[in-house]
Order: sequence, then structure tokens, then C-alpha cells
Amino acid sequence: MSRFDPASLLVARTQTADEGAIIRMAQKSRDLRAKGMDVVSLTVGEPDFDTPINIQEAATAAMKAGFTHYSPVQGIPELRAALAKKLKAENGLDYSASEISITNGAKQAIANAVLSLIDAGDEVIMLAPYWVSYEITVRFAGGTPVVLSASVEENYKVPAARIAAALSPRSKLLILNSPCNPTGALWSKAELEAIAAIVRSHPRLMVLADEIYEYILFDGEMASIGALPHMRERVITVNGLSKGFAMTGWRLGYAAAVEPITRAMTRMQSTITTGANQFVQRAGIAALEGPRDAVEAMRLRYRARRDTVLAGLRAIAGVRIGPIPATFYAFPDVSELLGRTAGNHRLDTSDLLCDWLLEEHGVATVPGTAFGAAGSIRLSFAASEADIEKALARLAKALGSLRA
Ligand SMILES: Cc1ncc(COP(=O)(O)O)c(C=O)c1O
Repeated sequence: MSRFDPASLLVARTQTADEGAIIRMAQKSRDLRAKGMDVVSLTVGEPDFDTPINIQEAATAAMKAGFTHYSPVQGIPELRAALAKKLKAENGLDYSASEISITNGAKQAIANAVLSLIDAGDEVIMLAPYWVSYEITVRFAGGTPVVLSASVEENYKVPAARIAAALSPRSKLLILNSPCNPTGALWSKAELEAIAAIVRSHPRLMVLADEIYEYILFDGEMASIGALPHMRERVITVNGLSKGFAMTGWRLGYAAAVEPITRAMTRMQSTITTGANQFVQRAGIAALEGPRDAVEAMRLRYRARRDTVLAGLRAIAGVRIGPIPATFYAFPDVSELLGRTAGNHRLDTSDLLCDWLLEEHGVATVPGTAFGAAGSIRLSFAASEADIEKALARLAKALGSLRA
């Protein structure tokens, strides 16, 4: 009898679900550290701060009060009501508690939305550079990603006319992430109005607006596309507490959309995970309605680091970088440096460049291939000020040593 091979049974879907470069670089950093190398890692996409204490205490109190049971799949009514209030007051978004669903992280809200709307043959417009998970989720659902790219000179924002030109009768969803991971780009209200006009003129196009970095904002104003005229029915707004409240490990996200969409998204969720954790949802109410001092203190720390990172990167020849109005990421374009050599290495791609930076200079970054922009690299400044200074010095030395 031939040997039983479970791996041979895996379906093709398992091959598409891979966050590739980010995970590879994080693992490589750990391996090199384990071998004793001094590695500074700017790879992670999460706050380096702990969750504010008032939120921790609210979770503990809720647990002690017995909120340890299953939650309704759509989320507890008290948190949905608190979110309806928040979305109205802070974002101008008009959704009732019944139009809000609570998810196990924003990632699940994105998956619920994509699984509800996208079928084989549906086209999803993605604005590169983009967060890699969107593309994976769209492929998972059988959809076809249509990738439009923006350059540093365009401040990483695809012009509205390019979006209009890419639409077809098969277009179904436009994914818009403002503020954006990995570039830190922020779409102004006027820019969103131009996009909304295009969306409204299409018979079946909806928008998935991911606003998870809204509180990590340094310059300009946050604007929500779902708050623009006649966009309420067209937009699914996704958000979560992971980034702004430093709650990545708690897994608390949410979405706002009109009822038929919200109901479908809740059905998707019920198949896979059921409702988000009860005591975490109670803590979420404390986060939303409690003092925001800690959120503001973190924002100021990120802003100071942003200034350091921008100054450091702008001083390196061959590196091009746009403004970073928001988030804790920098996404410098290093395409001028690709093809140069270091010793006997020819660094033709950002993947090779990132490997070399890590292996030879002890600084871990993520190649732009993970974000649909092969000529760039991503640095996260959700890292200590000391690590950021050290990483910038190493980058300057390393990149300055490359020969044409
Ligand atoms: C743009 C973007 N959206 C959503 C998420 C997912 O957030 P959550 O931790 O709430 O699932 C991330 C996390 O990295 C992100 O960068």
C-alpha cells in the first residue's frame, strides 16, 4: 500500500492564503536573533504600547461580572449602540445599532464583507500600495483583483480618473484604506468626493472603506467616504480598536453597512467564529467612552518618530519618500538603488535588498512585493525611539555603501 500523504489532499485555496513576505521577514529576524545577531526589527504592524489601563480594568470587571458566555453573533447591543454614536459624532456616518456588526478584529470584518459580495468573476479594484490581506481575501472568495498603482510623486494615491478608467461591468468593490497601510497616505474629503462621484455612476459598485488607522493621524483631517451624499448604501465602513487603542491581541473590530449587507456579513461570521468575546466587547465600550489621554499620548509619540524617520530617510541618496500624514509606517521607494551591488551580491529586487539589509546589517524591513509595490520597502515605526535611531543609522550606512 502506498504511503498516505495528507499534504497531497490540500486544496488550491491553501496556496493563496499566505501573507508571504511579512511573515518570512519576521521569522528570519527571530532566527538570526536566536543565533546571537543584533537585529533591529521594523517589521511589525502593531503598536509597541500596552493597552491603556482603564480598558484592561473594564475587561477584568466584565469577566468578574460573569460576561464570559457566547455573545450574539452580531455583537452585544450596548457596544453596537456606542459605535453608532461614535460613528455619527466622529465620522459623520449615519448608521443605527442594527446596521453595525462586531467582529473578531477588523480583519474578520473585511473577510465578512468580501465573502458576502464577491463571487467568481467579480472584479475588486485595489489601490496599490495596499495591505496584502485584501488581495488574499479577494482571491480566497474567487474574485479577481484589479490593481491600480500610485507613485511616490502622487503621494501614493491613485488619481480618480485612473479608477474611472479601470471600471468594467464586472467591477463590484473598491477597497479604500485611508489612512493607508503601508504608505501613511490620507485621502482628503475633496479626493474622496471625486471617487464617490465615480462610484455613484456605476450600477453595482460598492466601497469597502478601511479606517482602522484613523486615530494615528498627524496632518490633515480624517474624512469618511460613507458620510458623503448618497454613499450610505454604497459603503461598508470597517474599523477596529487594534491600532488606535493598542488592542491588537484583543481581536475587536466592526463594520457599518445597511441592513441587508450587515445581515449577510453576520451570517458569514456565524459560520466561522460566532460573536466576538463578551468581556472584550464590554472593554470596547470603556475604550470608546472613557478618557482618550492614552490614545493621544501614543499619537504624539508616533508623530515624533514619524519626524525622525522622515528626516533620516530623506537624507539617504537614492531613497524617495512622500509625506506621512498618518499611521506608523514609512514606505520609501528604493527603485533607484535596485540593481546595485554589495560585494558580490547584485540586489535586483526589494526582496533581495531586504534580505541583505537584514543578514548583513541587522535591520529588518518588509519588501514592497508584499504590498503590490515591488520598488519600495516598508518600515514600521511602532518601535522604540532607540531602535528607530539605530535602524536609520544602519540603513544610511548600508544603502550608502551600494555600488552602481
Ligand atoms: C489596513 C489594515 N486593516 C485591517 C487590519 C486588521 O486589524 P485587526 O487587528 O483589527 O484585525 C490591519 C492590521 O494590520 C491593517 O493594517
